[in-house]
Amino acid sequence: MKSYKIALLAGDGIGPEIMQEAIKIFKVIESRNEVQFELIPAPFGANAYFSHGHPFPDETKAVCDKADAILKGPIGLSHEESKKIPVELQPERGALLPLRRRYNTYANFRPVSLPKELAHFSPLKPEIIGDGIDLLMIRELVGGLYFGEKETGINDQGLRYVKESLEYDEEQIRRILHVAFKQAMRRKKILHNIHKSNVLKSSVLWNEVLEEVAVEYPDVEVRHLLVDAAATLLCLNPTQFDVMVMENMFGDILSDQGGGILGSLGLMPSACLGDEKAYYEPSHGSAPDIAGKNIANPYSMIGSVAMMLENSFDMEEEAKNVWNAMQSVFADGYSTPDLSKPGANVKMINTDEFGDKVVEKLSQ
Ligand code: IPM
Ligand code: MG
Repeated sequence: MKSYKIALLAGDGIGPEIMQEAIKIFKVIESRNEVQFELIPAPFGANAYFSHGHPFPDETKAVCDKADAILKGPIGLSHEESKKIPVELQPERGALLPLRRRYNTYANFRPVSLPKELAHFSPLKPEIIGDGIDLLMIRELVGGLYFGEKETGINDQGLRYVKESLEYDEEQIRRILHVAFKQAMRRKKILHNIHKSNVLKSSVLWNEVLEEVAVEYPDVEVRHLLVDAAATLLCLNPTQFDVMVMENMFGDILSDQGGGILGSLGLMPSACLGDEKAYYEPSHGSAPDIAGKNIANPYSMIGSVAMMLENSFDMEEEAKNVWNAMQSVFADGYSTPDLSKPGANVKMINTDEFGDKVVEKLSQ
């Protein structure tokens, strides 16, 4: 019997509600495989700041250090509420980025998947969606502008100024490109390289390294695309994309657009992979406006469990089963109030009922 420790960082807002549904999935997987999951909850995010004085407390670090994988919910407060926390300890800066840095989770997989069962959520026209969208955005997650040196002050003219630096070395670029080429090899052997080399030197180096790495993957066709053009084409012709690779900030922005073309960020799970440790999280925020109402769809959290099964525990078949179970709940006409308006042609259910239906399908 295999046994895995999983740290559960429920986070803020809707985090605890959707985490409950993810736990149900672990139980089903356990019941029919030679595997045991030891689920260890730990405080993380704004709630942890209020209860423990830090958004990523030492006890949580200890749990995560020992864990085989980490499942993390969304973090953050409303704009008003977050003013109660000193800037450096706000959960994005004080917990999330340190988590990524601590475990060096440099490869962020953000699938933008719109099978026909979910097509009705998308704002795109049917002729643009065609047979469905199925692309994988790979975002470099621990470098670039988000992790560069920051400086603020008063300049020689007496004006307030800010300076933030975008840094990558060739090794950081090379390792994420290898990840992307390997995914392209497993999929359609087409890799869209997203960059801004007409302006940014960082993209020039990125593309140089790409030419070197590409030699090792002669079967993969590389298509270069400027990031601004990529934003347009994601709306106009998303089905041309399969694997896309990009640096940190481009990936932050384009992956939210991925949520937009699906119809909701609630449909965006993700995997954050390092060489030693991986954590899994919904790509969306904590949605404080709908927290505690039992109306948030747990898709992104359950999808993150599926990604964990595949990437951390080599349980690819069960991962597929989880995806299929969720899709067939939608196919049966069910939805939750965060994804669908009342009166829309759906059978409205709550967060926990959605989780139960996924469990039902998964158990069939
Ligand atoms: C994301 C989020 C984070 C990021 C924020 C919360 C720091 O937007 O995971 O996409 O920018 O990486
Ligand atoms: Mg983001």
